[in-house]
Amino acid sequence: MGAVQVTVFFLILLQTCKIPAEDEEWKSATATYTKETDGSIIVEGACGYGDLHKVSYGRYSAGLSTMLFNRGSTCGACFEVRCVDHILWCLAGSPSVILTATDFCPPNYGLSSDYGGWCNIPKEHFEMSEAAFAEIAERRADIVPVQYRRVKCERRGGLRFTMSGSSHFYQVLVTNVGMDGEVIAMKIKGSKTGWIPMARNWGQNWQCNVNLTGQPLSFEVTTSSRKTLTSYNVAPANWQFGQTYQGKQF
Ligand SMILES: *[C@@H]1O[C@H](CO)[C@@H](O)[C@H](O)[C@H]1NC(C)=O
Repeated sequence: MGAVQVTVFFLILLQTCKIPAEDEEWKSATATYTKETDGSIIVEGACGYGDLHKVSYGRYSAGLSTMLFNRGSTCGACFEVRCVDHILWCLAGSPSVILTATDFCPPNYGLSSDYGGWCNIPKEHFEMSEAAFAEIAERRADIVPVQYRRVKCERRGGLRFTMSGSSHFYQVLVTNVGMDGEVIAMKIKGSKTGWIPMARNWGQNWQCNVNLTGQPLSFEVTTSSRKTLTSYNVAPANWQFGQTYQGKQF
């Protein structure tokens, strides 16, 4: 190979390496927004995230139609969304926002999927917070065409595990998950037990019924890209229901 060929070869190699393997294609959907009083959605939502300010998704949150919600598995996943193909309503240059899936947008079969029933099957729809919507489109628009793609979630701090339940029923809400954000499996371990697989209860609430009172707790979390992270002894022996404990981050 001559010097030119070698250079070209390495340029091609560099180019190939720059393309993030997990970057998805843009897909088409629609978006509306929920009018709020303080610019962010703070209801509990179908993912169980509670006061979203606490878990920092804040105004960059969205409710997803059935097709996107995937029975709660998508809770916590991140989507880049931009307004396209509407000269009046899309902001110039089609800026994008990154949203965390925090809620379910239920179907409304009383309305046609082309007129009000935006979240009906098989529509792909984002019900955005007003503040996030205003970053991509005019507030006076009621519905806009968008493009979206899954992106990696950037989170500050570790995974958060919030304990709830009772002495017979242990439930853990997992939030602030980086990378693909979407948890598909979870295990818990007390100091006196082995690893116990948990079942998804709803949204990102996971449950088991082994008595874990009085034991330090460890968690193993697997995301949709099959990456597993183990955080040992995240909760101390005197952990309490209602408390949140912080583990490692992906
Ligand atoms: C769970 O274990 C703790 C500590 O060993 C014990 O005090 C408690 O009674 C147990 N709870 C149940 C419901 O068995």
